[in-house]
Amino acid sequence: MTKKRVLTGINTTGTLHIGNYVGAIRPAIQDSRAPDVESFFFLADLHALIKCQDPARIERSRMQIAATWLAAGLDPERVTFYRQSDIPEIPLLCWMFDCVMSKGLLNRAHAYKAAVDQAVAAGKDPDADVSMGLFSYPVLMAADILMFNAEEVPVGHDQLQHLEMAREAAQRFNNLYASPEHPFFVLPQATGGSAVEVLPGLDGRKMSKSYNNVIPLFEGGRAALDAAIARIVTDSRAPGEPKDPESTSLTVIYDAFAAPEEREAFRTELRGGLGWGEAKKRLADKIDAEIGPMRARYEDLMAHPEVLEEILQEGARKARAIATPFMAELRRAVGLKAFTEGAAARAAAKKAEKKAKAVFKQYREKDGRFYFKLISPAGEELLVSTGFDSGRDAGVWVGRLKKEGEAALEGAPVVFAEGVARDAVAAALLTFIEDEEA
Ligand code: TRP
Repeated sequence: MTKKRVLTGINTTGTLHIGNYVGAIRPAIQDSRAPDVESFFFLADLHALIKCQDPARIERSRMQIAATWLAAGLDPERVTFYRQSDIPEIPLLCWMFDCVMSKGLLNRAHAYKAAVDQAVAAGKDPDADVSMGLFSYPVLMAADILMFNAEEVPVGHDQLQHLEMAREAAQRFNNLYASPEHPFFVLPQATGGSAVEVLPGLDGRKMSKSYNNVIPLFEGGRAALDAAIARIVTDSRAPGEPKDPESTSLTVIYDAFAAPEEREAFRTELRGGLGWGEAKKRLADKIDAEIGPMRARYEDLMAHPEVLEEILQEGARKARAIATPFMAELRRAVGLKAFTEGAAARAAAKKAEKKAKAVFKQYREKDGRFYFKLISPAGEELLVSTGFDSGRDAGVWVGRLKKEGEAALEGAPVVFAEGVARDAVAAALLTFIEDEEA
């Protein structure tokens, strides 16, 4: 079974909340277990430098996020899990793409345009707040994806334009440097994955750090979980009064952690008068039943950076086993190979060329008839004869073709293989004649 390559990029800024867990982490880990996928997960820590120039925060955040994904069940044996910054081939590929992508296309990137609009609105120079990193963000992302020739990239709507740009990078590079039959890059597709669920926050709007309405995932432990849940907005109906289950985000958050039959039962109880306080306690217990054991693993990993480091180093080894030889090929394609590599190869080719001869192969088919075919010095099948009644008849034609070369092709009972030109056959036949002359 050929496996589908799926690549997931993980931002390493900020701390995570259960909206990230339900909407992205849990479904991505679920999808990575499918038997027909080969998954790549990486921490986009080079991208992180664009937004954050506080080394301590970068350091802490990438560690927390690595520990979170592992604690949530990402299996580093099964998937390739690595840090972008451990793969030097990625920034090199980014540069190769920088050199073939047009600035005009990148001018249209949403994130860049937003930064320009903001600066202009503030009366500043349009590019006042734009680093080259921000401008080139989509190019680095293209390198992330294309380095591993990922066929599918699960991303949200905000990233669709980046995927378009990655396809553009792939196409440009292929057009410039590859033959149409052997492109270097496949064109990656954006997929939603299973990550479609958007969890509402404490106030019913989308759960997001910028709205300050989140339930933290692991940070702060059970106490922080309880404290956040206590802040979920409900109406003021007292215990015993019937409640509208859809009047609060509490039930929707509950749904994300409960089995279908539990969801209905919870609603029935609320309609029957279950108090909000009790409902919140049930929600906290429900969430904790799932993430409590993960939190313990998370804390253990955070206390053992050497374990995390070893896992990610191993991931980098796996990733580079793909990236390093591929990059060697790409360097060759653009003209950056070792000086000696070409010379040695040319000398070897010349030597091989001198010695190499075409061959005729004679054989008998199931139909009982006798055939021959001509194989070029490079091993390519050039032509096949029609069937003969005897091996001797076939041999006579082989003899003539070897001796007379191209001249004997006229009227010879042979069919050229698809796409083979007469010149190639003539050149192959010449190897027999030169041999006799030598
Ligand atoms: N830009 C992505 C985001 O903001 C993160 C990312 C970086 C990424 N490189 C990637 C995602 C490559 C997918 C593939 O979510």
